[in-house]
Amino acid sequence: MSGDHLLVAVTSPLPGRAESTLSERFAVRVHAGPRLLDQTSLAAFAGDAVGLLTLLENPVGEALLAACPRLRVVSNCAVGYDNIDLDTARRHRVWVTNTPDVLTEATADLTWALILAATRRVVEADRFLREGRFHGWRLDLLLGAGLQGETLGVVGYGRIGRAVARRAYTFGMRVVFSAPTPVASPDPPAVQLPLDDLLAASRVVTVHAPLDATTRHLLDERGLRSMRPGAFLVNTSRGPLVDEEALVRVLREGHLAGAGLDVYEREPEVHPGLLALPNVVLLPHLGSATAETRAAMAELAATNLVAVLEGREPPNPVVRGR
Ligand code: GLV
Repeated sequence: MSGDHLLVAVTSPLPGRAESTLSERFAVRVHAGPRLLDQTSLAAFAGDAVGLLTLLENPVGEALLAACPRLRVVSNCAVGYDNIDLDTARRHRVWVTNTPDVLTEATADLTWALILAATRRVVEADRFLREGRFHGWRLDLLLGAGLQGETLGVVGYGRIGRAVARRAYTFGMRVVFSAPTPVASPDPPAVQLPLDDLLAASRVVTVHAPLDATTRHLLDERGLRSMRPGAFLVNTSRGPLVDEEALVRVLREGHLAGAGLDVYEREPEVHPGLLALPNVVLLPHLGSATAETRAAMAELAATNLVAVLEGREPPNPVVRGR
């Protein structure tokens, strides 16, 4: 299938060459804003499109797919695809694709930015200085937590979890990880533990699992309270993996020493309790946010979409359609 008459709908302007990859082959409708945050407005925008390129904030389910009968592919410009109802896509025989690999290293880097910022109080210290409170070097000024010889607990040992673990060895850390099934030869090598044991053992816990029905509140109040006193929690995966309300309570009580969060349970809302805590570093979902990585993600999303519409196997199928 090819031709100018085929319409591809794109829910946001794209960086790099991605838009021309599409417009060289199809009629392209790009949404410049305001944001499309529900299926009704998405359906009105996508109309009779055969391909839809989405961001992780665009919900895709029955209301949208029923309203777009010509749609053959939803290409998500993200590695996560919890915004898409996969069973409904299967029922409508619509392909779903995502953008793994190209964002692994950038996301692992940002995870480490949060680990270091939280344990060494970087943001708090920056604020302290700007407020004119730095009056000279002191032995006890803004002391943080050292990482050498400590244990990093990686929840989820997929591509990003393993890239985070690889970096841990240069900081002299020991790595343990948890995963839903036994991993025979973990790479990099690390000890697999049940989640509860990992939480009890780790000075820093970092979350790298996809969001689905089995992982929602994977870190619930009980889990958070079973973390070591004085430990840190970092999350660059999806907010709903952590019970945010419980996290606020556990941080307020001082059981945890701090947290570094890039994702939130009701994104883009951030729990006011988190905003009030100086020992929590908060970022606006920036895991993959380097110029190179975002261009690579957009290009891969365009490549996946083109492949389906040209009748080829897309590089990153999540659901196979017609
Ligand atoms: C970002 O969160 C992604 O899933 O790519």
